[in-house]
Amino acid sequence: MVVASAPAKVILFGEHFVVHGEPAIVVAIDKRVYAKVELRTDDKIHVISKNLNIAGSFNDGSFTVEVGDPQAARLKLEPIKCAAEKIMEACGKRKGLDIEIYSEIPASAGLGSSAAVASAVAAAVGAALKSHLSKEEIFKASLEAEKIVHEMPSGVDSAITTFGGALLFRLNSKFERLTLEAELPLIIADTGIKRSTKDQILKVYALKERHPRIFQLMRNVLREIVLEAAEALQEGDLNILGELMNLNHALLYGLGVSNDSLEQLINAAKKAGALGAKLTGAGGGGCIIALADGLNAEKVLKAVQEAGGNAFIAHKTNDGVRVEHE
Ligand code: MEV
Repeated sequence: MVVASAPAKVILFGEHFVVHGEPAIVVAIDKRVYAKVELRTDDKIHVISKNLNIAGSFNDGSFTVEVGDPQAARLKLEPIKCAAEKIMEACGKRKGLDIEIYSEIPASAGLGSSAAVASAVAAAVGAALKSHLSKEEIFKASLEAEKIVHEMPSGVDSAITTFGGALLFRLNSKFERLTLEAELPLIIADTGIKRSTKDQILKVYALKERHPRIFQLMRNVLREIVLEAAEALQEGDLNILGELMNLNHALLYGLGVSNDSLEQLINAAKKAGALGAKLTGAGGGGCIIALADGLNAEKVLKAVQEAGGNAFIAHKTNDGVRVEHE
């Protein structure tokens, strides 16, 4: 029996625009998904998701549900099967599997839970097959699974959950590791509203089509924000970072991916003295992040909780996907 885990993430700068080719800054945080894998004696891929309370098995192209609504369960479990199959292809071995998922990361909230699940499963299956996989191979399997969930992901979620730390990410090119000078006191608050990343991405595509020149100008502004933010991060300048987060959020608001619940949490964080706040991930619900200086992190946390957010203080982790035990 093998257990592997992978971390959640927060996009500090550049969500949505990253899908269109702009850079994004993303950090892995200390909440993880765990995947337990055992080899079976038959060919079935049997998957249980503890948190989502669904279970079922795949056998020769057909799906049998055990727990949950059949259609919804298949939709959620298919990417897990995909990550496992991609890794088995990479290893050149094919086995039946029992896969069990347990997650500390809220789902559909902008924290990268689907990519983390896929990376953890890929690593656990590789280890169960006694194959020494590179992180690059795990990243590729995770990205294939993400394509089923979001259809056109940039790959930023799969990259950060696999490699950990902080990355300056660009579509279709090598990403750079960022070293952060300062502790980043980040408060994360979840509106509790679940939404589909794919729907939010499509909404932005539609806006781009209606206003191509304006969208291009917004991209240019975003690029400047990300590049300045990368410098501010390396210098540990929290005040500048906070300002840049506010500017980035203004662009996301303009794209139409914020909503009342997100704005409420952002305003509460700012009123309590946050240096900056923005939605993180696809928007339309999900989470905000607020940057505090070390002294008022607790105050900001309390303010967003009082405003209705399910909130916690996040810490950066350098540990990407890893095998816990085999
Ligand atoms: C999802 O965490 C962030 C988006 O930019 C989508 C993506 O990059 O795949 C909205």
